[in-house]
Amino acid sequence: MKDRIKELKEKFSAQLGTVYDQKSLEELRLAFLSKKGHVSALMSELAKLPGDQKKEAGALINSFKQEISAHFDEKMEQIRKAEEERLINSAESYDESLPEERARGSYHPITLVQRELEDIFGSMGFDVEDYSEIVDDYHCFEALNIPPYHPARDMQDTYYLSTPNQLLKSHTSAAQNSIMHKYGPLLKEKGRPIRAVFPGRCFRNEDIDACHENTFFQMEGIMIDKNISISNLIYFMKTMLSEVFERDVTVRLRPGFFPFVEPGFELDIQCLICGGKGCSSCKDSGWLELCPCGMIHPNVLKYGGINSEEDPYEYTGFAFGLGLTRLAMMKYGVKDIRTFNEGDLNALSQFVSK
Ligand code: DAH
Repeated sequence: MKDRIKELKEKFSAQLGTVYDQKSLEELRLAFLSKKGHVSALMSELAKLPGDQKKEAGALINSFKQEISAHFDEKMEQIRKAEEERLINSAESYDESLPEERARGSYHPITLVQRELEDIFGSMGFDVEDYSEIVDDYHCFEALNIPPYHPARDMQDTYYLSTPNQLLKSHTSAAQNSIMHKYGPLLKEKGRPIRAVFPGRCFRNEDIDACHENTFFQMEGIMIDKNISISNLIYFMKTMLSEVFERDVTVRLRPGFFPFVEPGFELDIQCLICGGKGCSSCKDSGWLELCPCGMIHPNVLKYGGINSEEDPYEYTGFAFGLGLTRLAMMKYGVKDIRTFNEGDLNALSQFVSK
């Protein structure tokens, strides 16, 4: 047995010397240590030895096995290091001739404004919701108290798909009904107020000019609970706008008509450029129209499953529809709305978040 082992040791050392990668090392390991390998063969021979020789021979085989296992581990570590070194030094890993600074992408200005608003509303306890761009007539109009042939549909002519009853949403209000159904049970069973904002891309059949686009972004928000009033609406709007413009803003409400709110308002902020005195940015009025809003119409709360016929005022809420595109224009001083969709990187890469 001693001689067999000696012979195998020599064979092993000779072969180990020729190993240069993980694959050939593994082949060698199998040749020695697998079930059909040399060590197993030694074990079979051991079984055939007379009883008094077994102990000594068994110990020899074991120490041989341990010895070659240690060699394998050591060799594996060497190969791994050499491979790492080769990668670091080879052209595969990096190209020294490349200039250090490479052009980096930047966020679209509307993405920047959207994320900032999501953070602000998130910090006030609002959930941020996503919604599809293709919706049906019910969600875009009827659930919002805009029945077929209602004149308010005129302003929201959009793109209709050839699939019946499918259209590109003309405003983010289209998500209101689904969000009420999603969070209504939590409100009624757990008393958790519904607070959600839902940004999204909207579409309308518009003639395009510096102020109108067929594709633009809005961010809608709703809050529903017991005893929600116009004061809550004003508080949230003012807090949010002061954060966006990084200063205290003065707001006012004017009456505005939207079928899904009653009363409905146009929320204006005092012109940030002239401070209300009147300038060319605010067309000498001292105010800038910013965000339509209002108290959610009882019909809309009913369709959303919030209130029953018997008690249409059990829960109340407010809604607002911020024009994200318009806000981005105001915040960054962009004069032409088309800039956002043209994909001109010279224009779009200038914006950074605060
Ligand atoms: N969805 C309206 C539009 O795009 C804007 C709007 C008005 C949203 C009043 C509201 C609201 O939530 O209360 O023209």
